[in-house]
Amino acid sequence: MTLWGGRFSTKLNQQAWDLNSSLPVDQRMALQDIDGSLAWAGAIHQAGVLADKEHASIALGLDTVRKEFASGQFIFQPSDEDIHTAVERRLTELIGDAAGKLHTGRSRNDQVATDFRLWMLGAIPELQSALKNLQNALVERAELADATIMPGYTHLQRAQPILLAHWWLSHVQPLQRDVERLNDLVKRVSVLPLGSGALAGVPFEIDRVALAESLGFADVSQNSLDAVSDRDFAAEYLFCASLIGIHLSKLAEQIVLFTSAEFGFFELADAFSTGSSLMPQKKNPDVFELTRGKAGTLLGLLTGLLAALKGLPSTYDKDLQEDKAPVFQATDTLLAILPVIAEALRTITVKAERMRNAIDSSMLATDLADYLVNKGVPFRKAHEVAGRVVRAGGERNVSLEKMPLEAYQAESPAFEADVYQVFDPMKSVEKRNAIGGTSLQSVKNQIKKIKGE
Ligand code: ARG
Repeated sequence: MTLWGGRFSTKLNQQAWDLNSSLPVDQRMALQDIDGSLAWAGAIHQAGVLADKEHASIALGLDTVRKEFASGQFIFQPSDEDIHTAVERRLTELIGDAAGKLHTGRSRNDQVATDFRLWMLGAIPELQSALKNLQNALVERAELADATIMPGYTHLQRAQPILLAHWWLSHVQPLQRDVERLNDLVKRVSVLPLGSGALAGVPFEIDRVALAESLGFADVSQNSLDAVSDRDFAAEYLFCASLIGIHLSKLAEQIVLFTSAEFGFFELADAFSTGSSLMPQKKNPDVFELTRGKAGTLLGLLTGLLAALKGLPSTYDKDLQEDKAPVFQATDTLLAILPVIAEALRTITVKAERMRNAIDSSMLATDLADYLVNKGVPFRKAHEVAGRVVRAGGERNVSLEKMPLEAYQAESPAFEADVYQVFDPMKSVEKRNAIGGTSLQSVKNQIKKIKGE
């Protein structure tokens, strides 16, 4: 049974049918389709389209269909074109002709947009809780890191000493923005399209505000032509997912780098490492490489949907059926990655010695310039003098803390014997105590704020 057989003399070609069918993808929205249908039955009952008995029979039938889906007993038929058809076909089997009244005033165009939004309203909190779990893992690592210091990098060149805790937390912040971005998106997802009909609106007296409330929507769409074709929410969702992917890829890239023998800052637990089929010694960070790689896939899903939306004429076009697969895939991808990397980070070993030893005194050249500033030298001049000192050290092949005082004084008379105090990296860290800096206190405050204390 198709929902549109009347005007055709022959059946749809089988391969065209297969191309047209969206059931393999949209069956994930079965429960949302039933919720939407129940609410719609209520609305057309209120409008006088359904008699009390018909309404009761539809509601009971839909409840049975829901139970069949929930228990995995629902059986699809080859004639089920999409989830909407499948639910209506089964309802007809269960209650007979009254089922034929359910679709009054409704189109699959407003129905599918409603189902999809309902599905997303359920997926967003799931994604947020997976993000929060990863944030918690990162905060736990930051708390464990205590006063461990490591080199901070710019351009991937050693730059200044920082607290490892500060580095962990630098990955919590983008995820916090992701959580908030998703909250913001909810406002635009939670707008009910049902009651838009195929495109022009509904000719019965439907209280769409009450309908929205019954389905948990915060608002009602204001233009039926827009409502059936608006997929901004799907594009935004995929943008959020892509940006999460990009944030995770940045973290993942550094775990890959820092677990290499060249850095040796971290070692992954065996449970989160993979081996090589050829080289017995290998311990590979596949989990993080996949995280990095899947960020590319997520970005592709976003650009794919945007490309499908570009240039579409007003209202529903079948191109829009391409909207769900990328959203589902993006969700599955993130829900697969997030818990794994959270656990991989919870079980990672920190090589604090290696981190500490990677800090050399040239990374305190900025502090050397600041030292001169404290002695009254203008910063521009101080920067140049410190640069000359670094160069002199390089030429003599001696590190800054081992350079004799005369060598310093040859560059500036402002240098005194206390200059060697500059080369304590912890002092450098502790000086950066303003909000957002890497000092112990500042990082403690950051943790408090993240935890909402
Ligand atoms: N399976 C369709 C989709 O996902 C449902 C809407 C069909 N509408 C139509 N006019 N053929 O977009």
